[in-house]
Amino acid sequence: MRKIAISNQKGGTGKTTSTINIAYGLQKKGQKVLVIDLDPQANLTASLGISDNTAQKNIFHIMKNECHVNDAILDIRNVSIIPANINLAACETEFSNIAGREFILKESLHEISDFDFILLDCSPSLGLLTLNAFVMAEEIIIPVQAEFLALQGMSKLLETIEIVKNRINPSLKISGIISTRYDNRKILNREVVEKLETHFADKLFSTFIRENISLAEAPSFGQDIFTYRPDSAGAKDYLSLCEEILKRS
Ligand SMILES: Nc1ncnc2c1ncn2[C@@H]1O[C@H](COP(=O)(O)OP(=O)(O)OP(=O)(O)O)[C@@H](O)[C@H]1O
Ligand SMILES: [Mg+2]
Repeated sequence: MRKIAISNQKGGTGKTTSTINIAYGLQKKGQKVLVIDLDPQANLTASLGISDNTAQKNIFHIMKNECHVNDAILDIRNVSIIPANINLAACETEFSNIAGREFILKESLHEISDFDFILLDCSPSLGLLTLNAFVMAEEIIIPVQAEFLALQGMSKLLETIEIVKNRINPSLKISGIISTRYDNRKILNREVVEKLETHFADKLFSTFIRENISLAEAPSFGQDIFTYRPDSAGAKDYLSLCEEILKRS
């Protein structure tokens, strides 16, 4: 079972879009996938058309030990989803006095075993929820938008990953960096990608996710790109990325 956190504390770099479409791409490749929305913004949950039903169990209930994991898992087109909602924002304060609070997610999900992949959609922060993701995961995938300031903040992210790896989770590693919203016509995009290649060498996936309007439209229909526009550049790119992810195991 591969446990992958999709993380970058910079906002809007394509974490949620990548989590959804990697999940469905891997499912198309025959993998059994569980996706966990770990962001209080709950964009992933909403993007899959899951309504913010207050009776619905979500990841916060699991972390608070208020429900069993299986009671929160939804099946959406053959991918398992554990949703989130805005209440998850209280997590930082709710758990602030608990010793070992960075282990809560890992411990509350320890019974899960029958998946090939667990993907964690992280929020744009390096707070407690992301820390919990880094403790539970064995791999981190970092989506980066090749724009000005893309690399700013990366050193803080890398430093945090290094600290978690050294102190808590020795098996944690960055398994890849995705260049997202790539537009070959933009000189700046090409320059930033060159920098990423210099800094991260073979960590950078050779598939770039191109800027593609269908990727931005699909969530308003509650759909992944393979359902919404199977012939789009976005579908091709995410499927090719999934092939690389499968090879990197
Ligand atoms: N390849 C792409 N082409 C076009 N639009 C994209 C692409 N990738 C993402 N987007 C759009 O960019 C915006 C930000 O993407 P997304 O929500 O995936 O980023 P995020 O990193 O999860 O953001 P946050 O940090 O707020 O969680 C969304 O409106 C999304 O539809
Ligand atoms: Mg997001």
